[in-house]
This record gives sequence, C-alpha cells and structure tokens, in this order.
Amino acid sequence: MTTLMTTDKIEQANEALQKAVQKMKKDWRLGYHIAAPANWINDPNGLVYFKGEYHAFYQHYPYGESWGPMHWGHAKSKDLVHWEHLPVALAPDHDYDRDGCFSGSAIVKDDTLYLIYTGHVWVDQPKDIAIQTQCIASSTDGIHFTKYENNPVISEIPEDSTGHVRDPKIWQSGDTYHIVLGNRTKEDIGRVIHYTSKDLKNWTYEGVLAQNESNLGYMWECPDFFELDGKHALLFSPQGMEAEGDRYQNRYQTGYLIGTYNEVADKFEHGEFEEMDYGHDFYAVQTLHDDQGRRIAIGWMDMWDSEMPTKEHGWCGALTLPRELSLSADEKIIMKPVAELESLRTQELPLNVASVSDEVIKTDINEELLELKVAFSLKNLTAKEFGIKVRCSEDGTEETLIGIDVETSKLVLDREHSGKGVKGIRKTAINLEGDTVTLHVFLDRSSVEVFANDGAVTMTSRIYPKTTSLNVQFYAVNGKVDIASAQAWKLADIWESQK
Ligand code: FRU
Repeated sequence: MTTLMTTDKIEQANEALQKAVQKMKKDWRLGYHIAAPANWINDPNGLVYFKGEYHAFYQHYPYGESWGPMHWGHAKSKDLVHWEHLPVALAPDHDYDRDGCFSGSAIVKDDTLYLIYTGHVWVDQPKDIAIQTQCIASSTDGIHFTKYENNPVISEIPEDSTGHVRDPKIWQSGDTYHIVLGNRTKEDIGRVIHYTSKDLKNWTYEGVLAQNESNLGYMWECPDFFELDGKHALLFSPQGMEAEGDRYQNRYQTGYLIGTYNEVADKFEHGEFEEMDYGHDFYAVQTLHDDQGRRIAIGWMDMWDSEMPTKEHGWCGALTLPRELSLSADEKIIMKPVAELESLRTQELPLNVASVSDEVIKTDINEELLELKVAFSLKNLTAKEFGIKVRCSEDGTEETLIGIDVETSKLVLDREHSGKGVKGIRKTAINLEGDTVTLHVFLDRSSVEVFANDGAVTMTSRIYPKTTSLNVQFYAVNGKVDIASAQAWKLADIWESQK
C-alpha cells in the first residue's frame, strides 16, 4: 500500500473526530486529564520525552464511543499538566495491522521518534484468535509518522506461544535495544518475553523474562521493565487472576514484580506480585523516563467490561494523572502525583475543620475540579472509621466515600452511592502506625484519584455523579478523629482554557 493511503486514513479519522466533538455532552468531561477529543480510548501508548516535550499516545477508536479497530491518538505537553491534542498518529491501513494498531511504546534515536506497536489481524474474532506482529513507525517532527516499509519487524513467535503476543515496551541499554512483550502460551500461562536488536529492525528472541507460576493469569498485557531505585520493576496487566479477599477485585489487574536483573544472564529474580493501584479503574499502566531522571507512570483510568456512562455523551475513556514512581524500603512502589500538578491550582479554598466526632460535617466546598490534602491525626483517635465524602448531593442520596477503617487498618473507596452506573467498594491495607494518615485526593468531573500516606497506597476510580452533587464532607463513626491539617484548591480546566 502507498503512503498516500496512510495519509487518507489519518485525515478521515481526524475529520470524523471533528464531527464527533460537536455532538459531545460535557457533564462528565474531564477537566485536567487526557481523553480523546471525542470517542473511545484505552491504554496509554508511546509515553516519551522528545525534543523538550512529553508525548502521550493512546489506543483510540475515532469513529465511535466503543472499542473498534485501534488507532493511536496523540497529545503533547511541556509540563505534564497542560496538554494539547495532536492529529491521530497511526491508523490501521496495512495488511499487517488492518484490524488495529495495538499498544506499544516509543524511543528516540538520532533525533527521530520511533513508535513500536503491535499489528493486529483477526483470524477468528469470536474465538479470540489473532495474528499479532510487531511493527515500527518513525517521525522527525513528532506529529506525522511513516510506517517502516519492511514491517513487521517481528513476526516469528516462540513455538509454545499462541497468537497473543503484543504491547512491545522498548528501552536501550548500551548499544542494544530491548523489548518486552506480553504473551499467552498454548497452555494458557501468562508471561513476558524478551527480544533484542541493534538497529530496531532486526530482532532476536532472548527468552522468557517472567511468567505465571501461581495465580497470575493466562495472559499478561502491557509489560514495562525498568530500573527503580537500584532494583528492577516489571509492571504488567495480567488477565485471568482469581479474586482473593480484598485483592484482585477488578475484571483484570495491573501490578508489578520487584527484583534483581542480571542483564548478561538475562535473569530476573523477583518477589511476589503486588497490585499497583487499588481502585476500580486502573489498567495497562506504562512509564517514561524523563530528562530529570524521573520514572513517570500513566495508566488507563477505566476497566474492561465496566459500564461506562459517558458513552451516551459521545466519548469514553481517559488516562490517569502522571505519577512519579519510587521504591519504599520494603520494596513497594510509591506513586505520587508529579510536582508540576501544583500549577493546576487556581485558588486555595478555606477548610477549617479541627475534629470530627460521630458526625458528618458539611464543608463550604462545592467544586467539581478539586484537590484536597488532609492529614488525620492518629494520636487521640477513638473513631472506628473516618474520612472524607466527596461529590455529595444536598439530599444525601449521592456520595463517594474515601475512608479509613481503623479496626482492619484499611483504606476504603466506596462508590456504592456515587451516581450513575458503576458501584462497588475497594479496600486495601494501610499503615496506621504513624502520627497521621494522609489523604491526597484529585477530583475531576468523573474521576477520583486518592494518594494515601504520600503515595504508599493509591486508589483510582471513575464516578458519575449528578453535576449538582458537589459538596465535600468529613465524617467519623463511633468516636472522634482530630484533623492535623486540611487544605483544598480549586483546579483549572486545561481544555477549557485552550478554546
Ligand atoms: C490492554 C489491551 C492490549 C492491546 C490493547 C488493544 O488493555 O488489551 O493488550 O494491545 O488493549 O486495544
């Protein structure tokens, strides 16, 4: 096929999007998160720092609010906060990617931005049988991409593999390029496999980097592998894990293994699987390494097979806020909102609550784009449960609860009464041994991201409240909790200010 047809498909997609934008309803439209201009998105792709700007691509269907033949949508930013939409970067327009340009990553080589992605071709969609190959595309301006004429660059798969071999994550070490791929074996074992190359075009299979040896699922999607504070972290999104108590409650999970990587022997020795975020909507996370040496993660802020009420509004899917990663002393990943997000604050709002005793306190804060930072004192604590309620309605029927269950030492995110559609409670262990427990919360029109105890535990969920349910409240049950400090900021709508 010719380059001209590629351009046609991209133009067609951009035109479709422009039309779709006119029809969109804004009630739940996010104010400071990345979503497509309209219609569907899922995984973040190709996160990269290129020529002084951050680029975020994403799985995108420009023609509808549901998943369809995947394109790559695209946004860029100078500061990880103020994003700008760019034209669709990749469209499925060749035989090898005709049913979708699936997830992948990016790397800069010789001032050129390379994308590596999975070309997806259905053999039998109802039976989930596909041919997946790895392909590259390049750009010097970071906006217009040309697919490599000899794509695919990897079409041979290990003998014991099914056709599910996708989502290349690329990095460079010395003069060698590496990718990890998510894979499902013929025996339904989820794993990550490893290839190397000297030129991005010819790749050699190196073997299995890690695989399911217990309850870790039949397929591992969207791997990422990097050094973090002297250790190595393998992130991936396993499908097919069974729920265990409060753990693994979502349709699919996203988590990590921490260990030591011996590059010469290509051996990764690691500990147990940990979930990365304990909310309802966090999947397919990917990272980038920036010029300040930070490792920054962004996830898809939805979950496969969930009800997604914004479909009725002409759009669906969003990416999480960028989070800086580090490793705790006990080798758990800490995720903090990147410092640049402070520039979203447009106004500090007074929040004068000193303690809460067996009551619900309505504050004067009624905002849809909001940041809250609260430290609850654990010193004279008698309450059995306490926390914050957000997006509360006047009549008390709607609320989203972010609380601490003291007896079980759990952080709780309860969206049973959050509004339209989605329900469910998520709970996870939190350390209550310090002087305080802190909740740092980012609220957007249909999302809540909780960073508890300075990012030691995070919960990310979508909520779909009425536009009039805006109140912030504090609560304590069966006793009292003192508030050591509480701050609130109204946040900017980065998309509104671009109009
Ligand atoms: C993860 C995923 C990837 C795949 C993409 C398709 O959410 O299933 O494995 O590349 O989505 O859109």
